[in-house]
Amino acid sequence: MTKRAAILGSGHYVPSRVVTNDDLAKLMPTSDEWIHQRTGIRERRFIERTGIGASDLALPAAKMALEQAGRDVKDVDAVIFATLSPDVNFPGSGCFLAHKLGIPGVPALDVRNQCSGFLYSLSVADAWVRAGVYKNVLVAGAEVHSTGMEFNERGRDVAVLFGDGAGVVLVGEATRDEQGVRNVELHADGVGAQELWVEAPASMYIPRLTPEMLDEGRHFPRMNGKQVFRWATEKMPEVAHSVVRGAGLTMADIDLFVPHQANMRINQLVAAKLGIPDDRVVHNIERYGNTTAATIPIGISESWRAGKIGPGSRVLMAAFGAGFTWAGSVAVF
Ligand code: ACO
Repeated sequence: MTKRAAILGSGHYVPSRVVTNDDLAKLMPTSDEWIHQRTGIRERRFIERTGIGASDLALPAAKMALEQAGRDVKDVDAVIFATLSPDVNFPGSGCFLAHKLGIPGVPALDVRNQCSGFLYSLSVADAWVRAGVYKNVLVAGAEVHSTGMEFNERGRDVAVLFGDGAGVVLVGEATRDEQGVRNVELHADGVGAQELWVEAPASMYIPRLTPEMLDEGRHFPRMNGKQVFRWATEKMPEVAHSVVRGAGLTMADIDLFVPHQANMRINQLVAAKLGIPDDRVVHNIERYGNTTAATIPIGISESWRAGKIGPGSRVLMAAFGAGFTWAGSVAVF
């Protein structure tokens, strides 16, 4: 029988430090009203102190995912780590996570696809499990954004959007007929590369970072918000329709839609275009902001624990972000 890969367990972790919109308004000219009206965000989590990396946030989430999947850490035979904010420039955060889990020798792959990183990673894990290359693949999405933003007027359009957090799933062989990742679709278009990026330090410059670049803030994220908004509200519905059709389903068959959490308004527009009612759409951006590679696995983990996902649930996922990259998937739990 052909193997099918399934999401067997999930977990999530966010730091305990809550940062409200009012807290940010003390640091730069912004307001709870501006942020909430445009994005839906009320608060986000930031790491409590220096020295906490994306792999530290992923560790408790990974243990939670293994427990839910009924797997031991020794069963993990590959780690995929999606992040745009790795603990350090290199090596990848997957190596740190595998070391912290105590699984020496297990391969660790980092995926750098920003907001689409989790779905790109899921695609790799799905292919590995179906091909029989690996049996139990831990797929992590984790970010520490709070150390890389500019909390002043110049950086406020980006700084209000992002939060720290981690979500992890365990992908392994499906055990029931219906169960499994039914379809994953990935896209990229570098025409948008400079519309949302962190330019420096950059290997293409000699030297990679100069005092002038620091003054100009080129080591902070820069975003053309309107352009990203326009592309996201076009590409997310497109890829969602395509993966659902490719899975042999219709939108009416979808029990839960877990979109990437970049902006509540984007997700409301996308869900309306898809005809999915709000009670079947996962929103947690009001509590966590945009946790980039972590948004979808956090959404899955919270929904599973809240009873919104159970055996047989048909879940649609879709993301859009830097690159530009975008992706969609349908999985039956
Ligand atoms: N507080 C108060 N005012 C602000 C803030 C702030 N935090 N940020 C910007 N402003 C000001 C601007 O300076 C501008 O002022 P002006 O009119 O005097 O020039 C005004 O508010 C309006 O700014 P706009 O950029 O036009 O606001 P917009 O309605 O486009 O909303 C937003 C901005 C929320 C960022 C929106 O464009 C958006 O959500 N875009 C998509 C974001 C996204 O999806 N990012 C991708 C994911 S991230 C990833 O992949 C890594």
